[in-house]
Amino acid sequence: MALLPILTAPDPRLKKKSKPVETVDADVRRLMDEMLETMYAAPGIGLAAPQVGVLKRVIVLDIDREEVKTGPLLMANPEIVEASDEDVSYEEGCLSVPEHYSEVVRPAKVKVRYLDRDGVAQEMACEGLLATCVQHEIDHLDGILFIDHISALKRNMILRKLLKARKEKEREGAEGKPASIHEATDPAHTL
Ligand code: NI
Repeated sequence: MALLPILTAPDPRLKKKSKPVETVDADVRRLMDEMLETMYAAPGIGLAAPQVGVLKRVIVLDIDREEVKTGPLLMANPEIVEASDEDVSYEEGCLSVPEHYSEVVRPAKVKVRYLDRDGVAQEMACEGLLATCVQHEIDHLDGILFIDHISALKRNMILRKLLKARKEKEREGAEGKPASIHEATDPAHTL
């Protein structure tokens, strides 16, 4: 199986709305499996299809923490069907916004409905990091990045730095040095 290249912001494909999956067929299962492998290799704890340039409503996640261990979760057409009034703030990062982190406020608990890898409809109650991660990944399917939840001033600063870093890497690549993939510092914050 192939590792898929991960797009980084700013990239117009990350701002697009993804289309629902009609059926979870062999192509969708293959996409899920490759996304999962790509996410583990990055490393991160969540990945959405538009991050690998595929505008389909597919996300994968795997939370492994003391309070919550999910194992691999593969979801097609995930949607939030219930959200708590209570909010929580978590320092989020993203494989498409490498090396930048920011506190984002979201509902503390959500219920997500989705199709699993076998195309079976499931519902899952999520809280803690799992709730944050599911909402972050579903945002990706609507062209929303965590930096869209913070101030425009901070967002633009991060986007400028990302562009500068990309140009520096391209220059290094042109000089024959290996273009390094991003150094994700803390996978627990890389959603
Ligand atoms: Ni992300």
